[in-house]
Amino acid sequence: MPIISIPTNGLELEADADDNLLKVLRRYKVPIHYSCKQGECGSCKCVLEGGEVDMHGYKGSALPPAQREQGLILACCSRLKGDVQLRLIDSDDYIVHPERHLVAEVIALRELAPEVFGLRLKIRYVDRDGEPFLFSAGQYVQLSVQTGPDTLIARDFSMASTPVDAEYDDELEFHIRRTSTGAFSGLLGSGIQLGSIIAVDGPMGSSHFRPRHQGPLYAVAAGTGFAPMLSIVKTALNNGKLEPVVFYAGFKTPAEVYGREGLAQLQREFNNFRFDVVVEQDAGASDRSGRVGDVLLDDVADFAGAKVYLAGSPGMVEAVSACLLERGLPAADVHADAFYAPKPGLSLSAQAVVDAAEENDRLTLPSPLQSEI
Ligand SMILES: Cc1cc2nc3c(=O)[nH]c(=O)nc-3n(C[C@H](O)[C@H](O)[C@H](O)COP(=O)(O)OP(=O)(O)OC[C@H]3O[C@@H](n4cnc5c(N)ncnc54)[C@H](O)[C@@H]3O)c2cc1C
Ligand code: FES
Repeated sequence: MPIISIPTNGLELEADADDNLLKVLRRYKVPIHYSCKQGECGSCKCVLEGGEVDMHGYKGSALPPAQREQGLILACCSRLKGDVQLRLIDSDDYIVHPERHLVAEVIALRELAPEVFGLRLKIRYVDRDGEPFLFSAGQYVQLSVQTGPDTLIARDFSMASTPVDAEYDDELEFHIRRTSTGAFSGLLGSGIQLGSIIAVDGPMGSSHFRPRHQGPLYAVAAGTGFAPMLSIVKTALNNGKLEPVVFYAGFKTPAEVYGREGLAQLQREFNNFRFDVVVEQDAGASDRSGRVGDVLLDDVADFAGAKVYLAGSPGMVEAVSACLLERGLPAADVHADAFYAPKPGLSLSAQAVVDAAEENDRLTLPSPLQSEI
């Protein structure tokens, strides 16, 4: 049985041979950064100080050969072959919430823009004896629907709602881009409609709001990246953040724009909040024109003391993160979730849902007392 030791964190963890390293670290709630879970974003890097792992299936840009030679590995692409010794990189004030297995019902489904849906879920059953579902703004979950007796479709989506909505109202909201051939999103409005049952697993991801940070906060979204950025911005403002909070909401065309009125309302309520809608093609008079990342980088001459949160298309997130690092913003102040589609064959996460449901406590009703506080 392989042992993972992390001396700097005082940890010795037992795993099974061939276990995926990231899965084991998440199981033990070790504060490791991660986002895509499939070797594309590079956020789950850690230093292998002893032992060996079997690592494959990652993009060269996520772990360049020079870093590999220095002993860095990607936890999400590493399988354990024996004992290993690790050092984690920069866990800053990363919060690890217990991973939960919930069952929720669709209580609202509305079209926010052509082919972008607002999906609202009410949590009906939870594990852990009815404890409320806790997450940090900016995190995501895996939503799964059953499409046949043995078929589950599972995909990652970020919460647009705030942790408070989940803790006190048992509600979660998502913004989902529908593609007609999307195995999950293609069901919106047909297989997934009012009353449908959806399994929710998570929370996941380390690109979440850092409540202790003092300094300007920039939230940059492309398309449905709007969802986690909205959750972060609302949480920051409602938590009493006093420094400037700026939301850049990027869309390709004017028809794709949504959420403007909600942001205008926040701007009326909070003096330290402002937003720009940035449209790439044919921007209207009230909107900024261009690519959302370029507008941010043109507007802000000095990012000293700031944190930048980014979500949405991998192209935008990767390019803007790289420019921010080049401009001297420390990696610990860039929090990015690129919305990668799952690699073919990786939907075995659906099997993980079944396994988890079998392994875990019986599901119970959320505690009414907790919900009514
Ligand atoms: C951390 C994270 C958070 C995310 N948050 C969100 C979010 O809040 N909102 C959101 O909208 N997305 C989000 N995503 C992205 C979302 O998980 C993916 O886009 C996912 O693939 C959507 O599932 P789907 O059912 O639409 O498409 P999938 O079935 O996964 O298909 C992916 C794409 O491939 C195409 N496709 C499918 N089959 C084929 C085929 N055989 N040949 C060619 N093309 C094919 C589909 O048309 C689709 O465009 C997130 C992703 C990550 C990693
Ligand atoms: S590369 Fe491992 S989480 Fe993205």
